[in-house]
Amino acid sequence: MPSEKSVYYPNSNLFKNAYVNSFEQYVDLYKQSIDNPEEFWGEIVKQFYWETPINIDKFFMYNFDFRKGPIFTKWFDGATTNVSYNLLDRNVRNGNGDKIAFYWEGNHPDDYSRLTYKKLLEEVCKFANVLKSKGVKKGDRVAVYMPMILESIVALLACTRIGAVHSLVFAGFSADSFAERILDCSARVLITADGVWRGEKHLALKSICDQSMEKCARNGHNVEHCIVVSHLGRVTSPPTAIQQTNKTPMKNGRDEWWQDLMEDASSLCYPEWMQAEDPLFMLYTSGSTGKPKGVLHTTGGYMIYAATTFKYVFDYKPNDIYWCTADVGWITGHTYMVYGPLANGATSVMFEGTPFYPENDRFWSVIQKYKVTQFYTAPTAIRALMKFDNELVKRHNLSTLRVLGSVGEPINPEAWMWYYKVVGNEKCSIVDTFWQTETGGHVLTPLPGASPMKPGAASFPFFGVQAALLDESGREIEGEGEGYLVFNRPWPGIMRTLYNDHDRYENTYFNKFPGYYCTGDGARRDSNGYLWVTGRVDDMLNVSGHLMSTSEVESVLTEHPNISEAAVVAKPHPIKGECLYCFVTLTQNTSYNDKLLNELTKLVRERIGPFAQPDVIQNAPQLPKTRSGKIMRRILRKIAVNDRDIGDVSTLADTNVVEELFANRPVNA
Ligand code: WTA
Repeated sequence: MPSEKSVYYPNSNLFKNAYVNSFEQYVDLYKQSIDNPEEFWGEIVKQFYWETPINIDKFFMYNFDFRKGPIFTKWFDGATTNVSYNLLDRNVRNGNGDKIAFYWEGNHPDDYSRLTYKKLLEEVCKFANVLKSKGVKKGDRVAVYMPMILESIVALLACTRIGAVHSLVFAGFSADSFAERILDCSARVLITADGVWRGEKHLALKSICDQSMEKCARNGHNVEHCIVVSHLGRVTSPPTAIQQTNKTPMKNGRDEWWQDLMEDASSLCYPEWMQAEDPLFMLYTSGSTGKPKGVLHTTGGYMIYAATTFKYVFDYKPNDIYWCTADVGWITGHTYMVYGPLANGATSVMFEGTPFYPENDRFWSVIQKYKVTQFYTAPTAIRALMKFDNELVKRHNLSTLRVLGSVGEPINPEAWMWYYKVVGNEKCSIVDTFWQTETGGHVLTPLPGASPMKPGAASFPFFGVQAALLDESGREIEGEGEGYLVFNRPWPGIMRTLYNDHDRYENTYFNKFPGYYCTGDGARRDSNGYLWVTGRVDDMLNVSGHLMSTSEVESVLTEHPNISEAAVVAKPHPIKGECLYCFVTLTQNTSYNDKLLNELTKLVRERIGPFAQPDVIQNAPQLPKTRSGKIMRRILRKIAVNDRDIGDVSTLADTNVVEELFANRPVNA
């Protein structure tokens, strides 16, 4: 395997016309972005439409140091614009109305369609008028629970057009999780679809929404309108599907079909001019204390940052075909399937299915079908696909590819090499993009035409981003070393607050080290200045790129009447990156058996979602604790991997507990 010394250079033929085609040019631009942000971003904002122009005196303002007052970030304050106008009308006016905005590829290869910029604008305006007719106004939150279909994009941009704040929840979250998120943002309108096929699995989305809406009602909140895309009837079901006979139940007065509402809607909708700092959308992410955090992004800065990172990190050129496999329910789907590509007038592929259906070569056949030039996916998918015979890749023509992206978790060098050699044929650049829901866009990443690549390194900060590594006492580590990854100034796309909870925003991200935004990740800087993200330093787990907190899962496990205490740790997993290893202490006179394990698994799936399903649940009559009663997770992590080198245990109240837990490891662990 490549050592840290291995370096791979961008292919000079592929990247001779790259926006940034040498490392020196990256360094120059980077310096300008840091020393003179007004000039750097000033050139970029000119390419967008502002109804009220940007005032140079209020270009950007911030405070990252709580000792000096409340934390805040503002970009282009006082200017007004509309994001949907910039993504759609601007491109249509520039003569790109007939350009394809999206190729849609269904779960079944027989299902596909396309949407031009002009048609997308028309649909967005129509749906914006539908939302208006339901009483949705500027600032109102709209809950969205959608599969990977074009209506999802229409729904988001329609909100944007009228200044409503979309709150999309990944359609793999359970009814309970969705209800909690609707309640938190008190959305009165919900948009969903009847259902969807993912591979051979059927997801009844509307019935999940029904349960969520019931739960909201029990908590005193009524969703007044539920708009449902009729989707199942227009797609091919997998051959193994049992004919669905029961119709989607629709509640009179509350539920209506999208298609019915769109029929009479006008296709003209004047955009609502929004302040640059007005909210654009919110997106929930896991918090280490359990309750999800409603990360809030605003209008002007997010638009500019999504557009700029997309252009440079993927080196997107007007005739390229870009494909991001992320679900629209995650930030990657927001920034790099919707906002970033459309802001650049790009043509993208949107894919409804899975990499394994109908065969394990689906990704490669889609790349060939649409002649994809930039492909953006997650390490977990790469690891799952590299298990199969390379022949599955090689029998497709992937020669159009130029840039391969990775996101969501650290990419291990084995997966990086396979991606580089087998998928990229040793000529594509790999961009290992580090970022977060909170950062809005890429913050550490190579640039494909400029950065020599090291397998597994997110490399260098993007323009405008100043990264630092801090030691435990908050001192900056210069040169080589490892520490907390932090940023000492805002870039345009950083989140502005947590919805309705500015205190938590300050406490979570700015309290530990005054003056810095704290990512919660650790990183190492090597002797060439490359940054390597090493993973979370807090109690967060990253399962297949889905972030969740240990306490969130623990509190679900302890809801079960037979569980008195639970502790969850991450265990390395060959495909998912990490998986959940749970220790549970049973209440007296109950027994640890398959029935209990099934109930616990079901509980986690119901409360959080199928992706949070534990891999191992171990019976733990006692948990290793310090004398002050704090669970020593460090030791539990060792037990999870059966590593007896547990280090210093002098603070442990009872050392026998550890031996007992090693002896009790379940056979499947
Ligand atoms: C992790 C996803 C290493 C990291 C865009 C971060 C990564 C969390 C990378 C955010 C990467 C994401 N290398 N780690 N290239 N990309 N992460 O909010 O731990 O779903 O804090 O945003 O994923 O996850 P989120």
